[in-house]
Amino acid sequence: MRIQEHPILDFKQNNIIHFTYDGQAVEGIEGDTIASALHNLGIRKLSHSIKHHRARGFYCAIGNCASCNMIVNGLPNVRTCITKLEEGMVVKTQTDKGVLYEHV
Ligand code: FES
Repeated sequence: MRIQEHPILDFKQNNIIHFTYDGQAVEGIEGDTIASALHNLGIRKLSHSIKHHRARGFYCAIGNCASCNMIVNGLPNVRTCITKLEEGMVVKTQTDKGVLYEHV
């Protein structure tokens, strides 16, 4: 769900950004973060807790909690709530703590 109209702010929602989420071709708009684009698509589960494998999603939305960590372009532990969406990004659900050097 997006805010379509606002009495003060102007939302330009013209430029479509194409990316993949767990292998599925999806779209966001220019200005989205990865998490906001996924939220708009109805995707609420972004990762799992490491110990109990409980679903994690949008929580603080300001980059403080790591609840939205995902694998982006092969790089684990990307805080998707503060990472701007870019054309062609490959976004995957993160199910473990992520090992940086396997992906670099
Ligand atoms: S939702 Fe807390 S860091 Fe992204």
